[in-house]
Amino acid sequence: MLTSETYADAVTFTGCTSDLCSPDMAYDTLILDVEDRIAVLSINRPDKLNVLNDATVAELRRALIEIQSRDDIGGVIVTGKGRAFVAGGDIAEFATQTAIEAKRRALAGQSFLTAFERSPKPIIAAVNGFALGGGCELAMACHVRIASDAAKFGQPEVKLGIIPGYGGSQRLPRLVGRGRALQLLLTGEMIDAQEALRIGLVNKVVPAGELLDAARTMMKQMLANAPFALALCIEAVNHGMDTSMEQGSQLEANHFGLIAATEDMREGLKAFLEKRPAQFKGR
Ligand code: COA
Repeated sequence: MLTSETYADAVTFTGCTSDLCSPDMAYDTLILDVEDRIAVLSINRPDKLNVLNDATVAELRRALIEIQSRDDIGGVIVTGKGRAFVAGGDIAEFATQTAIEAKRRALAGQSFLTAFERSPKPIIAAVNGFALGGGCELAMACHVRIASDAAKFGQPEVKLGIIPGYGGSQRLPRLVGRGRALQLLLTGEMIDAQEALRIGLVNKVVPAGELLDAARTMMKQMLANAPFALALCIEAVNHGMDTSMEQGSQLEANHFGLIAATEDMREGLKAFLEKRPAQFKGR
């Protein structure tokens, strides 16, 4: 049963207290590669278009906990193996669910995607192909989306007689606006990468062969900055989007105060004044 604690333990990241996040634990449905502080987390069920069955959702949640606990990882690129990013939730699992199971499944999906959204380490979705249903929801929960020119997006749930369950009805209007979101949600239509760019669903479109390089380049740009500043930007935007301008601004001022306690702030400002690159240490 999913509770708010499962979300909290996925996002608090005060340390790794369970064997859930042992770096040695293998994944059946994922591949986690780490190089130069960048983790590439690939969903690896290409024959099933990387659909998010319950086992994959559980592994993604575990992978996120591992990622947060590892000091050798500064940020994450999420992508899919084969011709899909993620073609949705597993329709075969949905087909047999009771109302209670469906609600639990939605809560579990929402919880793990909220953990992605609230990750203090930046997450870029490198959308290589179909991002449908839960795939579009996963991409939207990442901080930035870069799409290959072969990517396709959609929330086709209504065609199956269901609705999005992993936050799609909430994140889509926040990203692209109410009218465009309702068009996608009510028609179930698939759009291509250029249209996704036009409506603001993705940040950037690149040729398919350049997708991972483009994501790495952007991630390197992020990781050259102070880690604590990245985390507080993410938190300020996440909380600010769900509250009033006044409350969000108050939070920003608090964070601006908090960051003044870091060594990295002193280093960043001093380096500018000394006309040299800053050496951030995450302290
Ligand atoms: N759930 C379960 N299985 C899925 C799936 C999903 N969401 N999407 C694809 N698959 C499976 C197919 O059943 C097929 O399995 P099989 O080879 O054992 O028969 C395999 O993935 C390949 O898919 P296929 O439909 O043969 O590929 P395609 O190129 O003809 O079509 C799509 C690709 C994405 C257009 C099509 O698979 C599709 O519409 N998928 C469902 C998308 C969706 O509605 N997502 C939201 C779910 S809530």
